[in-house]
Amino acid sequence: MSLLDKKKLQKPKPFLKWVGGKTQLIKEISQLINDQFSTDLNFTYIEPFVGGGAVLFHILANFTNLNNLIINDLNLTLINAYQLIKKDYQELILLLSEIEQEFYNLNSLEEKKVFYLQKREHFNQIDDHLLPLEKTVLLLFLNKTCFNGLYRVNQKGKFNVPFGKYEKPTICNQNNLISVHHYLEKVTILQGDFQETLNYAKKSTLFYLDPPYKPINLTSAFNSYASTNFDDQEQIRLKLFCDQINDQGHYFILSNSDLKNFDQDNTFFDQLYQKYQIKRVKARRNINSKGDKRGELFELLITNF
Ligand SMILES: C[S@@+](CC[C@H](N)C(=O)[O-])C[C@H]1O[C@@H](n2cnc3c(N)ncnc32)[C@H](O)[C@@H]1O
Repeated sequence: MSLLDKKKLQKPKPFLKWVGGKTQLIKEISQLINDQFSTDLNFTYIEPFVGGGAVLFHILANFTNLNNLIINDLNLTLINAYQLIKKDYQELILLLSEIEQEFYNLNSLEEKKVFYLQKREHFNQIDDHLLPLEKTVLLLFLNKTCFNGLYRVNQKGKFNVPFGKYEKPTICNQNNLISVHHYLEKVTILQGDFQETLNYAKKSTLFYLDPPYKPINLTSAFNSYASTNFDDQEQIRLKLFCDQINDQGHYFILSNSDLKNFDQDNTFFDQLYQKYQIKRVKARRNINSKGDKRGELFELLITNF
């Protein structure tokens, strides 16, 4: 696609809602990138926990000189969706608009709920390897119609989020899908463990790491993006990965929950990352369903520069 055609595209936005969306932190992250890379805007960008890609899409839209971007996630269904949209959007848009129309044609929320539950059941039966297109269509549909756009699976890996009771949500955002398709052209998309992404680092590389957050209190223990948990051992393994990045002369920005929001004495991350820069940034997170816990919270931005 020519530069002129690309200019006609809208700026790409995440095509899925994903818990941990980084909208509030994006300004801080952009600033860090601008400060560090102002003279070399041709660095490699690697995002090992891409999720909904809030930061990725911001970077694609605003740092247009970048040509070497790599994203990764452990979630196969999610990564299949990225790969599929990168390859072709036409069939996806066709199937998704059909399902959107079917949903809109239903007269009551009760009927919509039955429809939603049928699609959820179907989604859970589809093998990601066999029918990636069908699975992606249903992923996008469920994401826009389920409660709060959550992605949560049980121990058996089955998606179990309840119906969101929305009358007419936008299910097929055609212009955005087209834009995402074009912007993903220069992005390498991987599926697997974060550790593997180190093999893709080149001379000047920035890693942005947004792992499943360590719960700040027991009621916010939401980190089941996958049927395996990202526990303290995983947080420690991630810190060792950051050390490798650092030792090889690359850069990292890592975000995580600030455990001090609820317990001033909790120094888990302060100790773990004591040799790096730790900044506490105001952010809002809407994971808790209890209204009173939705206030301002701090998050950590940890960097090696
Ligand atoms: C907090 S989310 C990322 C949020 C994302 N940056 C956004 O803006 O929406 C964390 C992601 O890490 C993924 N994940 C969990 N364990 C992983 C691992 N060992 N390696 C790579 N990705 C992993 C989950 O599937 C999830 O998508």
